[in-house]
Amino acid sequence: MTKRIMTVYGTRPEAIKVAPVIKALEASAELDSITVVTGQHREMLDQVNEIFGITPDHDLNVFAHRQTLNALMSKVFDGLDAVLESEAPDAVVVQGDTSTVAAASIAAFYRQIPVVHVEAGLRSGDISSPFPEEANRKITSQVTALHLAPTSTSRDNLLRENVDPATIAVTGNTVIDALFHTVEQDIPFNDPALKEIEASGRPVLLVTTHRRENWHVMEVVGRAVARLARELPHYSVVLPAHRNPIVRDAVLPALEGLENVLVTEPLAYGEFTRMMAASTIVLTDSGGVQEEAPSLGKPVLVMRENTERPEAVDAGTVKLIGTDEERIVAEVSRLATDSAHYASMANAVNPYGDGAAAARSVAAIGHLLGVDDRLPDFDPR
Ligand code: UD1
Ligand code: UDP
Repeated sequence: MTKRIMTVYGTRPEAIKVAPVIKALEASAELDSITVVTGQHREMLDQVNEIFGITPDHDLNVFAHRQTLNALMSKVFDGLDAVLESEAPDAVVVQGDTSTVAAASIAAFYRQIPVVHVEAGLRSGDISSPFPEEANRKITSQVTALHLAPTSTSRDNLLRENVDPATIAVTGNTVIDALFHTVEQDIPFNDPALKEIEASGRPVLLVTTHRRENWHVMEVVGRAVARLARELPHYSVVLPAHRNPIVRDAVLPALEGLENVLVTEPLAYGEFTRMMAASTIVLTDSGGVQEEAPSLGKPVLVMRENTERPEAVDAGTVKLIGTDEERIVAEVSRLATDSAHYASMANAVNPYGDGAAAARSVAAIGHLLGVDDRLPDFDPR
């Protein structure tokens, strides 16, 4: 009898990173796929499902503007419990470190359903940063039956926490599967302004920001980006704004009236990856962008004090620069003006994956349930 695998996800990055897994589950003869979205994000989630052609079987619809983390968690527990009861899956797959993930993994564990954690073992080492993600991923690790670690670094983090090695598979990060698949399709820009920037050949500074622990410095980020737009007038600055009103209210006012700054709505994944490929410098606090941009050979400056993704920092393509206004301006300016420094960072590296993470993940899930064999671990060498 085929085993029934329920994938639960709620935000944009989870949707991007589980899409290759869902597609691989759908293609599997031994495993059936059930998809549940919590709706933690709304437009930003639906946008990704549409691009990957995924129609969720269940939607918990927990979205609300500016809701507290506790309100969100309790709605996920409540909504998911009923679905777990009615569907009775053989395993529940979660991805990453959002509050959807923490709630869904505990909910499955309480129902004694094995939890499969995609992107397991990332650790910054600081429980307060990223907040609340570092706690969310540790909570999920405690109740996980199968840890799908993207890299050997993340596997080693789990081993240090005494996780049984037999329960860990190193798969690569599924975001690289999603990225390769999307870039291959060569999806055109919808937005004429983006098309124009790409055609102009002007250098591009691509900026994204949303991290909760950075909310109190978001105005600083806005001011730094505005200064950069003035100091680098030959650059186009593109900022696809996160939907969070707290982020928008803080970041966007400083950018008003600047001719070389384009603020957009969240870009569809195909457009965003195309913009990354057309960019010169990426300035971000995003987790996923830290993994994707190095694969496209783009230098990434990360507005955070630490990272759970050290691999591309070690490879020299990603640099942690914190959130001080002067430092942000200085680091971007240096990349824009010092060609030797730029060349030293602009190396295409793929420490996070080879595009086969979903296949390894699904094989490991099959192995967990006794219907398949595992594939060899991902090795970036
Ligand atoms: C969430 C995750 C974070 C992840 C990020 C990816 C938690 C606690 N945070 O942060 O780990 O890195 O998603 O983007 O799980 N909003 C909309 N429409 C949308 C999405 C969001 O209007 O489609 C607005 C709402 O007002 C919402 C707010 O943004 O209340 C914040 O959304 P939320 O999911 O709570 O947190 P994020 O900051 O997006
Ligand atoms: N992304 C996108 N459109 C945008 C901005 C980002 O599709 O306008 C993608 C990006 O390529 C990456 C993911 O969204 O895969 C990152 O999401 P986010 O930064 O919101 O979350 P994080 O990765 O920090 O959890």
